Amino acid sequence: MSLRNNILSYGSVAKFFHWAVAFLIIGMIAVGLIMANMENSPDRFKLIALHKEFGVVVLILACMRLGWKILDVSPLFPESMDKISRLGAKLVHSMLYILMFAMPITGWLMSSAAGFQVSFFGLFLLPNIASADKEFGHSMAELHEILAWILIALITLHVLAALLHHFYYKDNILLRMLPNFKGKSNAENTGTDTGI
Ligand code: HEM
Repeated sequence: MSLRNNILSYGSVAKFFHWAVAFLIIGMIAVGLIMANMENSPDRFKLIALHKEFGVVVLILACMRLGWKILDVSPLFPESMDKISRLGAKLVHSMLYILMFAMPITGWLMSSAAGFQVSFFGLFLLPNIASADKEFGHSMAELHEILAWILIALITLHVLAALLHHFYYKDNILLRMLPNFKGKSNAENTGTDTGI
């Protein structure tokens, strides 16, 4: 499998970033929802610390992923995909990219405003990016929660679209993001429009 994408399929680097970030983000959402419904306890504080540390991992991976995305080519959409679906896919992908940054950054702002530096697995502390301010901290907490619900809706839409392409349209949209897909039976990818 090639490291780079081509016009027919994703390469192993883009696939690695996609699935690493997907699993991390789905895990972060699950842990975030559990934390939000727990009473204050040492276990809750441990979960919050882990949530922040993995949030930093998401931010680092998002930066690397965006850098790779800019440098690499994007596979073409299948010819069979109409204009509206292409536009919808581009819009959802762009919003997912924005939220990959916005979620960790609003979390970091929230922690900074509460006066807590974020630790990276005990190796080092991240600098605070906002001065201590209770009101600003509350606004960031609200924004973080609203963005999480938007992210949940977008991921649901994104997964449903991937399944629809696979089982209903029977194109290779899902297959080409999976490991071991070598781009066979890709003849329908002759469009000119790329993903974002
Ligand atoms: C089980 C979960 C998921 C499935 C089945 C899935 C499936 C896919 C597939 C099939 C593509 C390729 C679309 C194409 O070929 O044009 C894709 C792209 C993408 N996915 Fe997912 N995905 C999942 C989770 C996520 C999550 C959680 C995120 C959150 C950030 C995400 C963000 C993206 C983005 C931004 C792209 C565009 C990639 C690019 O072209 O740079 N995905 N996904």
